Amino acid sequence: MSITDPVRLSGSSAGGEVASMECAQVRFLSVTDVESLVTLEESTWDEDQAASAGELAARIQAYPQLGIGAFTADGVALASLFMKPITVEELRAAATWSDCAEVRTPAPARTRSLFGISLSSIDADAVTAIFEFFWPYALKGGWRDIYLGSPMPGLRGWMKANPEGSPDSYMREKRHGLPRDPQLRYYHGKGFREILECKPGYFPHPASLDHGAVIRGRIPLAAGAPLWRLVPLSWLHLMRSTLFRLV
Ligand SMILES: CC(C)(COP(=O)(O)OP(=O)(O)OC[C@H]1O[C@@H](n2cnc3c(N)ncnc32)[C@H](O)[C@@H]1OP(=O)(O)O)[C@@H](O)C(=O)NCCC(=O)NCCS
Repeated sequence: MSITDPVRLSGSSAGGEVASMECAQVRFLSVTDVESLVTLEESTWDEDQAASAGELAARIQAYPQLGIGAFTADGVALASLFMKPITVEELRAAATWSDCAEVRTPAPARTRSLFGISLSSIDADAVTAIFEFFWPYALKGGWRDIYLGSPMPGLRGWMKANPEGSPDSYMREKRHGLPRDPQLRYYHGKGFREILECKPGYFPHPASLDHGAVIRGRIPLAAGAPLWRLVPLSWLHLMRSTLFRLV
C-alpha cells in the first residue's frame, strides 16, 4: 500500500456505529496533531492511561522521527505509534512503563534499539500502514529492533481458572503455537515474537493484574544495515510493500 494512495478503512464512531473512514495520510507527527491525537488516546485508553496533550507534545518534540500517525483527509487520527531510543541496560533497569517511556533529551547516543512507548488505534489497516511507512526510515536510521511492554488482558481470568499458575507461566503459554494471551497474539502477528520478561507493577491495568510483558520485534532486513545506509530512501520506499512486511 502506498501512503499516497488513499485506502478505505472502517472504524467505529463515538456513537458505536460503524463509519467508513479513509486513511489519507501516514506521516511523522507534528505538535499541530496533538488535538486529534488526544481524541484518539481518549477513545482507546482508560482515563488514567491516556496520555495528556503535554505528554504527547513532549514525545513529538523529543523524537520527531519516531512518532507516526495515520489520518483521514479531515485530520481524524486513526492510529498513532510513539517510539524512543532505549538501551538494553535502561530496559533491564526499568521497573515500570513510566520508566521505559520517560522522555529524555538527549537520547542515548549508542543504541540501535527502540522502545514502543504506545500504539493506539481505531483501525487495524491504519496500524499496518504505520508500520509499513516506518520500515524504510528504520533501515536508513540503522535501527535493529523494537521493544514493547504489552498488557496481558487475559491474565486475570486465567489466574482465576489456574490459581497454581504464575503470570510468567501465563505469558509464555501457547495455544496452537501462538501466545494464549490475545494481545500477545496480536503483537506476535505484527512480528513481536520474542517474549522476554514479565514485569509486575508495570502499569495500572486491572485485566493484566498490572503486569507487563516485555516483548521484542526485529526490524525486517535490519541485518543488512550497512547496505541500507547506501540505498536511496526513495528505493526503500518503492520496495517496502513487497519486502518490509514483518509477517
Ligand atoms: C492494541 C490496538 C493498538 C490494536 O489495534 P488494531 O490494530 O486497530 O487492532 P484491533 O483493535 O482491531 O485488534 C486486532 C485483534 O487483536 C485483538 N486484540 C488486540 N488487543 C487486544 C486486547 N487488549 N484484548 C483483547 N484482544 C485484543 C483483537 O481482539 C482483535 O482480534 P480480532 O481480529 O479477532 O477481532 C488497539 O486495540 C488499541 O489501541 N488498544 C488500546 C491501547 C493498547 O492496548 N495499546 C497497546 C499497548 S502498547
